[in-house]
Amino acid sequence: MTANDAASYVAERRRLIDQALEGAVTVDGSRLRDAMRYSLLGGGKRIRPIMLLASGEAVGADCAPLLPFACGIEMIHTYSLLHDDLPAMDDDELRRGRPTSHVRYGEALAILAGDALLTDAFTLMTAAAQTYPDPVAAIRAVHEIALAAGAAGMVAGQAEDIAAEGGDADLATVERIHRRKTGALLCAAVRGGAILGGAEEDALTRLTLYGERLGLAFQVVDDVLDATADSGVTGKVGGRDRALGKRTYVELLGVAGARARAVALRDEAVAALDVLGTAAAPLRSLADLVVGRAAAP
Ligand code: IPE
Ligand code: IPE
Ligand code: MG
Ligand code: MG
Ligand code: MG
Repeated sequence: MTANDAASYVAERRRLIDQALEGAVTVDGSRLRDAMRYSLLGGGKRIRPIMLLASGEAVGADCAPLLPFACGIEMIHTYSLLHDDLPAMDDDELRRGRPTSHVRYGEALAILAGDALLTDAFTLMTAAAQTYPDPVAAIRAVHEIALAAGAAGMVAGQAEDIAAEGGDADLATVERIHRRKTGALLCAAVRGGAILGGAEEDALTRLTLYGERLGLAFQVVDDVLDATADSGVTGKVGGRDRALGKRTYVELLGVAGARARAVALRDEAVAALDVLGTAAAPLRSLADLVVGRAAAP
């Protein structure tokens, strides 16, 4: 697979995901559904669902039956953004290039739209699990995604991120926060895809290593972009981490140090894919895409 092929794979999978997401939350005339669709559709890089598809396909799964699980993970991710932006958390007004949910719909509906996206993600995935070719593998994948999203993963990371504001947390602590608040769900996308695809233990171990390294790199890159990129690139207001007193890789290592760390993590992630050969080409390309965003101009 050439670099061009990998790029068109990613573009095509993004299109399939956008199409499937459109049908995942239907219109019913209520403001709640409108708010859910407002945050879910029309923006977002779709990195986690593409990761799930690429990982599953790398171990031989068909794409179509993976789509509800890919949509589920994007719905969970979108809920996390929606709540992350609330005044009580990061208090952000721009997301995916548009006013945040609470700015557009008010705080109460923003909270509820997040609740509904999270819950309905599991409705979608557990319905799909029942007709998946290997239902036990599907339940295992959904279990992993739930673990990563909840109090053992993302929510714990978010709680610790807020608690660390204005403090002097060291690099090891910030790494733990980043692994949980962002790395866990990204790794669950990779592992979930692999489990759905019936990966052998060895392939699953290698893909887990990839997911862990790239999951951490993802948040390091996000820290760099917050400090360096303008909102035309990120769709978010920049400089918020410093304004909020967040402990980030940029705060601890500087921009150049954080960029170097992201590149090193990407290299480790890609090295873990060696045994998977050409089937893992899209995953390599995704790693470049994620870390390339923070490259020095
Ligand atoms: C932003 O995630 C929040 C983090 C976990 C770092 P993304 O950068 O994937 O945001 P979207 O989905 O493309 O908007
Ligand atoms: C977000 O981290 C992690 C989530 C689980 C949403 P950030 O707070 O840095 O994400 P952005 O920069 O607002 O997208
Ligand atoms: Mg945050
Ligand atoms: Mg935030
Ligand atoms: Mg950020």
